[in-house]
Amino acid sequence: MSALPGSPEATAVTGLDSSPVDAAALAEVPPLTEQTRLEAREIIARYPVARSALLPMLHLVQSYQGYVTPEGVALCAEELRLTKAEVGAVATFYTMYKRRPTGRHLVSVCTNTLCAVLGGQRIMDALSADLGVHHDETAADGSITLEHAECLAACDYAPVVTVDYEFYDQQDVDSARELVAALRRGEKPLPTRGAPLTDFRGISRQLAGFSQHPDAAAAAAAVDAPGDYGPTLRGLRLAAERGEAAPPMPAGPEQPPADAGEPRETVRPSGRTGETPGKEAADARVAAADTPAEKAGAAGSHPDAPEPAGRRLPDGREGTDTPAGQEPGTAGQGPDGPSRTIEGRGPSRRR
Ligand code: FES
Repeated sequence: MSALPGSPEATAVTGLDSSPVDAAALAEVPPLTEQTRLEAREIIARYPVARSALLPMLHLVQSYQGYVTPEGVALCAEELRLTKAEVGAVATFYTMYKRRPTGRHLVSVCTNTLCAVLGGQRIMDALSADLGVHHDETAADGSITLEHAECLAACDYAPVVTVDYEFYDQQDVDSARELVAALRRGEKPLPTRGAPLTDFRGISRQLAGFSQHPDAAAAAAAVDAPGDYGPTLRGLRLAAERGEAAPPMPAGPEQPPADAGEPRETVRPSGRTGETPGKEAADARVAAADTPAEKAGAAGSHPDAPEPAGRRLPDGREGTDTPAGQEPGTAGQGPDGPSRTIEGRGPSRRR
């Protein structure tokens, strides 16, 4: 039985009084340097369109300053030729970008449906009481920023807690409090699976695309560390034990070739074959027409109806003689632009 959250016993568990974290050092926000700018340009060079680099650049700023500072927003805007408002709009849209100083570690507790019913909310409440913070707040000693998270895509391991986005699966109140206590003592417990734990600034640097590992093999070895995939594979194993297999997928309709003008004939839900869906619908409209006029209208719009004769233009071609620049959607086109619609080709498009 765990101590009540917030009680002296709980404080002893969470290590509130013995944290080695230097809160003053964490609160310090070092200025961005020429090195930061060079790394930002290195990120930009990875993309064919410069502004695509904004997301990793924001992670880069966080790796140096712990959050997206006004200085970081200005650097991104300057390097990408965006406005600060545009950068700010992106930074405030995604929850992974923090707008206030973060602790050494970011602890995220999933409180979405499955985790919540299995104890996620109790974990969040206990950590919140122990640390004396609410969602998106940092403990007074600067060790932990606590947040509740929406589904972390690991429902089979519920309830899930992540630290700096590394997974700690199937937690309960006791194990989560032990985990946080270890973090506050400066320890880095191994995640349940995946790469070893760094800290918030370290993972931000990785998310910016700068590996902490000396080469690809070392990175792969760390990330592909053995893990327990029991819950994920449980359904598969049960099916194998019972000799069950999923029924074969029904063959889907064949995709028409890219250059096909007409849809292929297909089998309709009605069971009729040998017609395209459009023709079947048109047949139905003709059959349902009550009056000769309706029947004539439906027949006229049938795909098999003969093409109406077009107006003959002065140059001998059929089509409309709309003056250049006056067709819908072509305003502003010069006299050399598309100026008429030729039968069967559809309207002109601005290129
Ligand atoms: S509900 Fe928690 S990981 Fe999906």
